[in-house]
Amino acid sequence: MEQLQNILGQALAQFQSTADEAELEQIKARFLGKEGSLTVLLKGLGKLSAEERPAAGARINQTKQTIEAALQARRDELRQDRLTRQLAAESLDVTLPGRGLASGGLHPVTQTLARIENLFHSLGFAIASGPEIEHDFYNFTALNIPENHPARAMHDTFYLDPEHVLRTHTSPVQIRYMESHQPPLKIISPGKVYRVDSDATHSPMFHQVEGLWVDEQVSFANLKGVVQDFLQRFFERDDLRVRFRPSFFPFTEPSAEMDMSWGDGWLEIGGCGMVHPNVLRHVNIDSEKYLGFAFGLGVERLAMLRYGVNDLRLFYESDLRFLKQFN
Ligand code: PHE
Repeated sequence: MEQLQNILGQALAQFQSTADEAELEQIKARFLGKEGSLTVLLKGLGKLSAEERPAAGARINQTKQTIEAALQARRDELRQDRLTRQLAAESLDVTLPGRGLASGGLHPVTQTLARIENLFHSLGFAIASGPEIEHDFYNFTALNIPENHPARAMHDTFYLDPEHVLRTHTSPVQIRYMESHQPPLKIISPGKVYRVDSDATHSPMFHQVEGLWVDEQVSFANLKGVVQDFLQRFFERDDLRVRFRPSFFPFTEPSAEMDMSWGDGWLEIGGCGMVHPNVLRHVNIDSEKYLGFAFGLGVERLAMLRYGVNDLRLFYESDLRFLKQFN
């Protein structure tokens, strides 16, 4: 009896003395394992007399159950402690403010193109496009610029081979569109163009927007009205004026440079004119019945003025400090 009391006391005390789950299982073995003190006692029952045996066996078993119950309680306790610690360590404060996501934005030239397209669309112009690698025929010949004509030298052309160029302007889209559509037609064609040129106001790649309106009654006055209305809305300035200066393009007659009022002066923003009868003839449009106007606007020029950018190269250096300002 005394021994049992001792063993029980030791077991309970030792279970409490550890906070380590693995160690607790080792302590258990000291009492309940093969060589454990309680197991040894049980084995010793055989030495007792037949009368003493049942009562002693019952006592030992009772103690064994008490120890096992205490062991299980301690196990549960340690497991609970471990979970509590883990929960505390891994807890997230879902009320903390987020880190914020940096969002990208459209390039200022892309934004400008979208604005131009929207404005012309509201004036009834459809949008057409053509290839950037262009056949010499579309870029020059069909636009009334014959081979060996000095006008070809006006363009500093990137040649891919003797017959293919990177288009030097968006005017070849006029030809492609008129080849597949009959008047009345009213389009703009925005896109990239290429010239061998590079400084603060010239980039080897830049954008133009071509305009073309062909119908039975289209006049130079309509051209001026369309361009002026567009520019006034683009720059949100009702007092903006447009003026034409006589000029020369092989594919228009008469031809003009377009200027718009800016501050106290005038700024050139593109070329224009009435479509040359030779051009209409090239695409089998009756030049006695139809006439039209065409214009070409420089997109970067418009973007620079609208955003107050003074160096064209900034648009193409991909410097995020610059580009972020347009988000
Ligand atoms: N294609 C001409 C250029 O790039 C501009 C232009 C377009 C002129 C349409 C007249 C008519 O300079």
